[in-house]
Amino acid sequence: MAYQVIIPAAGQGKRMEAGKNKLLLEINDLPILIHTLNVFQNDEACNGIFLAINPQEEQELREMIESNQLTKVIALVPGGKERQYSIYNALKHIEKEGIILVHDAARPFIDKGLLHPLIKAAEKEGAAILAVPVKDTIKKASGTIVTETVERSSLWAVQTPQAFRFSILIEAYNKAEEDGFLGTDDASLVERIDQEIVIVQGNYDNIKLTTPEDLYFAEAIIKKRKDQQ
Ligand code: CTP
Ligand code: MG
Repeated sequence: MAYQVIIPAAGQGKRMEAGKNKLLLEINDLPILIHTLNVFQNDEACNGIFLAINPQEEQELREMIESNQLTKVIALVPGGKERQYSIYNALKHIEKEGIILVHDAARPFIDKGLLHPLIKAAEKEGAAILAVPVKDTIKKASGTIVTETVERSSLWAVQTPQAFRFSILIEAYNKAEEDGFLGTDDASLVERIDQEIVIVQGNYDNIKLTTPEDLYFAEAIIKKRKDQQ
C-alpha cells in the first residue's frame, strides 16, 4: 500500500486572477496548498511528498511547510513551464520503485478514503485514475454550430490523484519527451504506451480550484464538512 506522491504546485494560477499563485490563497484559515499537503501528511501509507514549485516562492513555502509540520515533504523541486514538465522534474528525484501518485495541489478536497482503492487498483493493474461520471450533456460543435451529441454514458470527468507503477510512469514520460507530446493529465501520457488504465469512481467534491467562483464552492464544501463533524 505504500506510495510516494508528486504534487505539482508550480503554476501561476492565471485563471484565478488573484495576482499571485492561487495555492497561497487561504480557505478556512489555511493556504490551499497546506490543505492538500495535510491530506498526504496524515495518510499512513504515504512515504514521501515531492513538491514541484516556482523557485521564487521557495522561501515562503519552506516556512509554511515547517510551521505546519509537514515532515513528509522530502523535496522541493523546480517546476517547469508546463504542468507536465513540473512532474517530469519531480520524477527525477523520487525513489525509482513502487507506486507513484500524482495529485494537483489545486485539489484540496481529495477524500483520503479514496486513496486506498486507487492505490490497490494501480498495484494490480499498473495504472488507475479517479474520475466521476459526466453530469452535463456534452455536444460537439463546429464553431458555434452543433454537429453531434456525444453519448454521455461512456464519458468520465477525470480528476487527480492518478496512480501508477513507477516503471510505467517513467516510460510514459520519457516517451512523451521523445515525441514532444504534451498532455493535459498523466494518464494521457500512459495511454500512449498502450498500458491499460482503470477508473476508480471518485466524488464530486474533489474539484480543482481554477477560477474565482470555485472559491465559493470551496466554502460550501468546507461548511458541509464542518456540519458533518
Ligand atoms: N502546475 C505546475 N507547473 C506548471 C503549471 C501548473 O506545477 N507549469 C500545477 C499547478 O500549480 C496546479 C496543477 O498543476 O496545482 C494544475 O494546474 P492548474 O489548475 O492549471 O493551475 P495553474 O496552472 O496554476 O493555473 P492557470 O492554468 O489558471 O494559470
Ligand atoms: Mg495551468
